[in-house]
Amino acid sequence: MCSVVGYVGKNQSKAFVLEGLTRLEYRGYDSAGFACISPESNRLACVKSQGQLQNLLAKCKQMPVDGHLGIGHTRWSTHGAATEANAHPHFDCQKSISVVHNGIIENHHELREALKKAGHIFVSDTDTEVIAHSLEAVLPIHKRIKPAMVELVNKLEGAYAFVAIMQSFPDQMIAVRKRSPLCIGIGRDELFVASDPLAFAGRTKKVIYVPDEAFVIMKAAPRHVSDSQKSPLELALSSSETANLELYSFSGTLLKPDIQELDVDWTDTEKRGHEHFMLKEIYEQKGAIASTVKYYQQLGNNLYKQMELSKEQLKDLKSIKMVGCGTSWHAARIAQFFFEEIAKVPTSIHLASEFRYMPFFNYENSLYIAISQSGETADTLEVVRMINDKECTTVALTNVPSSTMVREANGFLLTHAGPEIAVASTKAFSTQVTVLFWLAHRIALDKGLITMRQLQVAEEDLLIAAEVLENTIDTYRKEISATLAKKYAQFNRAIFLGRHISYPFALEAALKLKEISYIFAQGYPAGELKHGPIALVDSLTPVFLFSSLDPMIYQKLVANAQEVKARKGHIIAFAFEGQKELISLADCVFMIPKVHPLLGPLAMTGLMQFLSYAIAKELGCAIDKPRNLAKSVTVE
Ligand code: G6P
Repeated sequence: MCSVVGYVGKNQSKAFVLEGLTRLEYRGYDSAGFACISPESNRLACVKSQGQLQNLLAKCKQMPVDGHLGIGHTRWSTHGAATEANAHPHFDCQKSISVVHNGIIENHHELREALKKAGHIFVSDTDTEVIAHSLEAVLPIHKRIKPAMVELVNKLEGAYAFVAIMQSFPDQMIAVRKRSPLCIGIGRDELFVASDPLAFAGRTKKVIYVPDEAFVIMKAAPRHVSDSQKSPLELALSSSETANLELYSFSGTLLKPDIQELDVDWTDTEKRGHEHFMLKEIYEQKGAIASTVKYYQQLGNNLYKQMELSKEQLKDLKSIKMVGCGTSWHAARIAQFFFEEIAKVPTSIHLASEFRYMPFFNYENSLYIAISQSGETADTLEVVRMINDKECTTVALTNVPSSTMVREANGFLLTHAGPEIAVASTKAFSTQVTVLFWLAHRIALDKGLITMRQLQVAEEDLLIAAEVLENTIDTYRKEISATLAKKYAQFNRAIFLGRHISYPFALEAALKLKEISYIFAQGYPAGELKHGPIALVDSLTPVFLFSSLDPMIYQKLVANAQEVKARKGHIIAFAFEGQKELISLADCVFMIPKVHPLLGPLAMTGLMQFLSYAIAKELGCAIDKPRNLAKSVTVE
């Protein structure tokens, strides 16, 4: 969702803030802004712009405004259109307080009405602006930041993280967190604040993840005091770091900050000759799957430690429940077949945004796996919190070890995909499938259902599927780029069919095409076609059909393909080698070498993603940053 970034310290803030925003642009890119306190005039200066961050960067070049305290924002709009007026930072009436915010102030309407009655004038449609005006209202009453903040945060409802600077305190910055992520990096005579530590990775190795319902007052100048006068925070730092900050709970109690070692790197973020990050990430899948498999092979008994479960608990699982959103939900749906068929554990899959509002049944020996590439998705995170409250076991499966979900779930599992920059998930998806396939085998091993050798064969099967995933792209890349992408880019809608494990894969394929090409694509279970969707079949609606290696399912899919052909439908089949009947029925065939039957979707993943990519490219779409989307959706 939106990202907030801030800097306070010995250097000028703009360079860091703009670079931080560039690193976090995945969180939103419909407008951006920067504000700082000019050291010359002690007044706030601000630059904002509509559209992607590059517009702000260009504008900033023309305005040489800078200062030792600066804040910045990239936006994914929730309240109000993506206009310059609605872009952050937002201000109070006097333009003496500036705020950047991620999240939602749920009671913004009431607050706005009350503030308006008191004479405040609003200039944007955002919920954020109420923060600046509310601060303007409480600061003069209390005169000091801390009591003013206690009053302010107790007025605000919702989930939010915001950073504020004020002309009346030109050397201090406030950072506030309630449920939305926020962290502080500690450098030498400088402090960084951001929604994600990626913003300051490489600049410091020390991070404070701001606790929930807490605020921080950060000061520009370091304190020069003797060791005996140092605060516990200062004593915990090495000579190369200094921090002048105070951390308070929402009730105003001084808290001891927990400084952690930052294990995030900002490397590997170049496109390496690829035209788009998505293409680079599609091609990184084979390596990412191999690293993930290697990691789990070497994990040994640390698996139990990481998952915060004993071997006995894992062996005795009565059910597994997985929650996620978007692509992560699709990975979970595919993995349902792994856990039920391999580990023989009844498994159910839930959309995080729905799960919270369903009745909750606290079954014994259940494991809840929350799946999220980013580990920050608000819907999924709220489910983790809800299940934690019920004292059931939660495990987060994510690609980001420093994410909120890893910190809040009881245990964690990691995908080793490396940073995923393109909004449409590719390598995170394939590595999620990899981890879950491996875990199903590991549970089966602990239950005595398979031997160690069978687990090793499963690991080899994953590597074979990864090989196929990449080779099939290379086999068809030329043909897709030269002719097929052009052809299929002409259709306005498409149907995606699968059955059994290829049905959730069809859902993922449809999502991929929708996300990046804006072509309306609907995934259906193939057997359901005749119960309604078949009415849509015509020569203008191509039908993508994903085959199965299960002989019985395959036969049913052939019957479904015949139903489409009988209605003059156009079939694009992802078929496995030797599946003659399906191949003869299809208008366009992609032949996939045979793999482990449950890894069919993984083997097809690369080609499916590349086809969507090529169609979107043909249509001239913004592939890495599709319209209206954000990589990390931190609002519910
Ligand atoms: C957003 C992205 C999707 C992604 C989903 C879940 O909606 O646009 O591509 O699948 O979030 O993200 P997560 O980080 O929780 O896997």
